[in-house]
Amino acid sequence: MTPAPETALTRHAGIEVPLICGAMYPCSNPELVAAVSDAGGLGVVQPVSMTYVHGHAFREGLRRIRRLTPRPVGMNALIEKTSKRYHERMTAWVDIALEEGVRFFVTSLGNPKWVVDRAHAAGGVVYHDVTEARWAAKARDAGVDGLIAVNRRAGGHPGPRDLAPLLDELAPFGLPVVCAGGIGDAPAFAAAIRLGYAGVQMGTRFIATPECHASHAYKQAILDAGESDIVWTDRISGVPMAVIETPYLRRTGLRVGPVSRWLLRQPRTKHLMRGLYLMRSLWRLRRDSLDERRAHEFWQAGRSVADITALEPAGDIVRRFARAL
Ligand SMILES: Cc1cc2nc3c(=O)[nH]c(=O)nc-3n(C[C@H](O)[C@H](O)[C@H](O)COP(=O)(O)O)c2cc1C
Repeated sequence: MTPAPETALTRHAGIEVPLICGAMYPCSNPELVAAVSDAGGLGVVQPVSMTYVHGHAFREGLRRIRRLTPRPVGMNALIEKTSKRYHERMTAWVDIALEEGVRFFVTSLGNPKWVVDRAHAAGGVVYHDVTEARWAAKARDAGVDGLIAVNRRAGGHPGPRDLAPLLDELAPFGLPVVCAGGIGDAPAFAAAIRLGYAGVQMGTRFIATPECHASHAYKQAILDAGESDIVWTDRISGVPMAVIETPYLRRTGLRVGPVSRWLLRQPRTKHLMRGLYLMRSLWRLRRDSLDERRAHEFWQAGRSVADITALEPAGDIVRRFARAL
């Protein structure tokens, strides 16, 4: 097989195919991360998912992945300031990841400077999730090596821009830009690379794989859903999150109540409120995504569901996408 063309991402991450399996709380389990990396892409570890959801002590989880593949993996650090305790825990996770040989970090929210300092000292790189130029400017000032451009079709927390204009907006920063959002099939992946993206980060497509430990009902909902079934709700985490519209959501609505909305905006209460929402969302998403027997309320997915029609092993996805380049 002819190797996939090199990009700044493949060089930075030491991988063959410019395709990242994005961190997913609660869907990133070690077997999924390892399968993507082993096929030549980059699996990214989500530490809260690894520990709280899948029950591995962080270092042990990384070693489990290492037993499954010798190839590079990345780590996601959600660095939003919620509490001192959370920051200390994230710092410890980043340090453990470095000790265990991880050299690629994807940071989201917050100021990535402290992760950049640690990663660079060890010869690693940091790519930061951004949704528009003002966040990219902050990330560049913090010294990141690349940007992950989260567009409006993404799963997780989508941004406001479309795929092509977002690349135009971020190109002037002179950093490699990875496309995140709405890519579910090989032609769309190849088109994003042709457009000038240094790689693609996919989430939703990798949930519909045998390696992902999400429930069968959730995977089937992804296969069944069309683009118009994806809606945004702020009721899970306090900020808009892309989910499949379930009968529960149709019944109860997509928006938080007026009092919570007010508290989420006030400078004095917003960090506390975000912290509370975050804690509740961790529990809720774990329950709804993995437990087969639950009534299903919140299933995260992006608009790429439109192109996802079959379960497929994660490694086959990476190899099939690579052939499209
Ligand atoms: C179920 C789910 C959970 C996610 N959790 C995280 C997360 O914990 N941290 C993060 O940085 N991004 C998270 N994301 C975003 C993905 O890493 C990725 O950027 C996004 O899924 C790309 O869009 P796509 O789903 O259309 O492929 C999540 C996405 C999904 C679908």
